[in-house]
Parts: sequence; structure tokens; C-alpha cells
Amino acid sequence: MSNFIKTAVIGAPIKHSKSPLIHNHWIKEYDLKGEYKAIEIAPETLKEGVQALIDEGYSGFNVTVPHKIAIMDLCEEVDALAEKIGAVNTVTIKDGKLYGSNTDAYGFAQNIKENAPEDWSFTSGKALVLGAGGAANAVVYALLNEGVPHIIITNRSRDKAEALQTFAPEKISVVDWDARHNACADMNLIVNTTALGMDGKPPLEIDLSAAPTNALVNDIVYAPLMTDLLKQAQKRSMPIITGIGMLLHQARPGFKKWNGVLPDVTDELEKIALS
Ligand code: ATR
Repeated sequence: MSNFIKTAVIGAPIKHSKSPLIHNHWIKEYDLKGEYKAIEIAPETLKEGVQALIDEGYSGFNVTVPHKIAIMDLCEEVDALAEKIGAVNTVTIKDGKLYGSNTDAYGFAQNIKENAPEDWSFTSGKALVLGAGGAANAVVYALLNEGVPHIIITNRSRDKAEALQTFAPEKISVVDWDARHNACADMNLIVNTTALGMDGKPPLEIDLSAAPTNALVNDIVYAPLMTDLLKQAQKRSMPIITGIGMLLHQARPGFKKWNGVLPDVTDELEKIALS
């Protein structure tokens, strides 16, 4: 069993994680020997929990809430992107040491690239980012990296949006949360990075009527898949991209590191992840 690859996602709570469905589908699809588990680790036992994975011969693991920041202290090395985003979601174990990276920015950008209309591009206009939490960090980083000329961030707590502005002060503006409706005017892309609109969370209240009809609308929420934001955009004949692709694409680099294959995102996988 020496080439049996053990991988996992760690977090608390973890039972709703879609990652095992995604990774185990790929392990089967590429005829590999291995298993990807969901392992619940409480914040106070993170160090011991991770040591157990090292001792059991794991190749690596994904990291989700609430460990994405705390895991950084346990890493021998964190790559420049994860350092910049301020969170690690993918860890590779080598010689008993942890190497951290962040694949959320890649997942976000890849989802847009694969699903945007042909005549749409990151570089052709401004982006409006709703929210300034952990997910927004990765989204804003990706937008800058893809050459978006200007980003407007709006967040209920303005100070968090201003903190994100320090990524690139000359390319990022902040507007009040109450001004989000008018801020849609003149946008090329509108992205919801908050949890608003997710099953069990309050709705995202936003009026898209000021937005150009060719502005692309993306929600990183994928439960439900068709959020009210996306439905409103669709009614206005705006192009939309759902959030499931970001989840699927962010899983690819970790899988490649651990199993040696860069896996594909297929319609079948999307159906499995949404089941
Ligand atoms: P994540 O890591 O998933 O981004 P987070 O860091 O808790 O989660 O961020 C959640 C985002 O949703 C934040 O932008 C948050 O706004 P605040 O910074 O003001 O907390 C936003 N959010 C959550 N509940 C909200 C609500 N009821 N109204 C407006 N924004 C909300």
C-alpha cells in the first residue's frame, strides 16, 4: 500500500464539506490508489490533529473554516500568494513538514475564465466586489492579477474594505454599503463574496438596475446554485456565472500536488458536487 495516497480536508464543522466528493471522484476517474477524508479538528487541537496526519503518512490536506489562518503558524513555509491573501487552504506534507498555499484566487479566476462570454474580458472594465471577508481577499487578489483596471469594494463594515484597499491603493476604491446599488453603474463585473443569499443566511439586497446589461455577474455562493442575485441578473439579460465552479477549480492544484494529475472539471463532477 506504499503508493496509496492519503489526503483530507480539515475543519470544524466538516461534515457538509463537498471536498471528499470532488477528490474521491477524481481518484476514481484517474484510476489512482488513495482516499480523501473529511476530518473534524477543533481549533484547540489543531496542532495535535495535524501531527496525527503527518504520523499517519498523509500527503497533504485542504484547510477550511476555522483553520485557514491558524494553520499558517504550523507551516514550515507559506507561499507568497497565501502570505499575501493571509490564509492557507492547501497544505502539502513533505518530510514531516507542512507547506502551505492558497488556491482560492486560482479557483475564482479559473471559474470566470472558463465560463465568461467570449466577448468578455477581465481587462475591459471595472469590477464591483460585494464583501470584504476572507473570500474577498482571494477575489480581489485574483482580479488585480488578471489585470482588472479598477476595483470598487463595498462592505457593511467599511474598515474591512479599507484594509483590503491596501493591496493596491491606486487601483481600489471603497464605497459605503448603502451605496452598493448605484455602484453597479459602469461595471464590467459584479461579484458577491459575502455569505448573503446562502441557504440559512439573510438575503443579499441589491438593485442591479444601474448596471450595464453586458456586465458579468458572479456569486461565490453555490447553495442555492441560482441565488437571487443571479436570478435578478438573468432577468436583466446580464451574463451570469454560478459559484460552484470556484469550489471545483480551487480543488485542482492540491489534487495535482498530491496525486500528480491536474484533474478536469466536468459537468458530471458539477452534478456530483451539487448532489
Ligand atoms: P468569508 O471568509 O466566507 O468571506 P467572513 O470573513 O465572515 O466570511 O466574511 C463574511 C462577509 O459577509 C463580510 O464581508 C461580511 O460583512 P462584515 O465585514 O461587515 O461582517 C458580510 N456579511 C455577513 N453578514 C452580512 C449582513 N447581514 N449584511 C451585510 N454583509 C454581511
